[in-house]
Amino acid sequence: MTSPGRFLTFEGCEGCGKSTQIASTLTWLRSAKLNVHEVREPGGTPLGETIRQLLKHDPTGHSMRPETELLLFAASRAELVRQVILPALTRGEWVIADRFHDSTTVFQGNARGLPMEEVNFINRFAICRREPDLTLVLDLDPAEARARALRRPRPVGQKDRLEDLDLPFYQKVSDGYRTLARQEPKRVKLIDASGSREETFSRIQKELCHAFPTLPR
Ligand code: TMP
Repeated sequence: MTSPGRFLTFEGCEGCGKSTQIASTLTWLRSAKLNVHEVREPGGTPLGETIRQLLKHDPTGHSMRPETELLLFAASRAELVRQVILPALTRGEWVIADRFHDSTTVFQGNARGLPMEEVNFINRFAICRREPDLTLVLDLDPAEARARALRRPRPVGQKDRLEDLDLPFYQKVSDGYRTLARQEPKRVKLIDASGSREETFSRIQKELCHAFPTLPR
């Protein structure tokens, strides 16, 4: 019999250190001989990667409306869920996603101000009601996260519509995640990401071992 698939998502403001922590988590879980898929949003399928390009870089998308943005994120996710995530979970494998529907709740709902009822409806439809088993939000002071995001090296000549957001936007994103953690305390856990990479990773390991007691310590 295969063990049940587990679905884990990482969330947070830009600059919170998600990529580094996901890489460490993958190495750790794979060293425990688990079969783990890594996916990212928007993207993760050929169609999703095209939508990612539209959302982030394509000049035709530069002045898109928040409603259009919401639907494009949902379209990329609908494809990823049906093509990759659900089949992997059905096979009993693990899936780690770099962002999922909580990003839409927080970025398009809390930060861009779209009505939360509509955002939740579209989210549920896109994900086939398959919520993550556990969501780790890397929680960092918004000013610090923004400063770190601005220090990151960027590809020359490639404009990114979703970067360069102002501090009030970061504040709304951060507040949105904290609200989610209060509303869904069993699924959504805030991880203090203010210390070193090693400190943050050890908090992640602790949370994962608590949620999935068969993991090696
Ligand atoms: P990232 O891959 O560097 O995290 O960039 C993705 C950007 O897209 C980031 O600014 C967050 C944003 N985003 C949304 O606004 N809504 C969403 O649903 C998702 C998945 C991402």
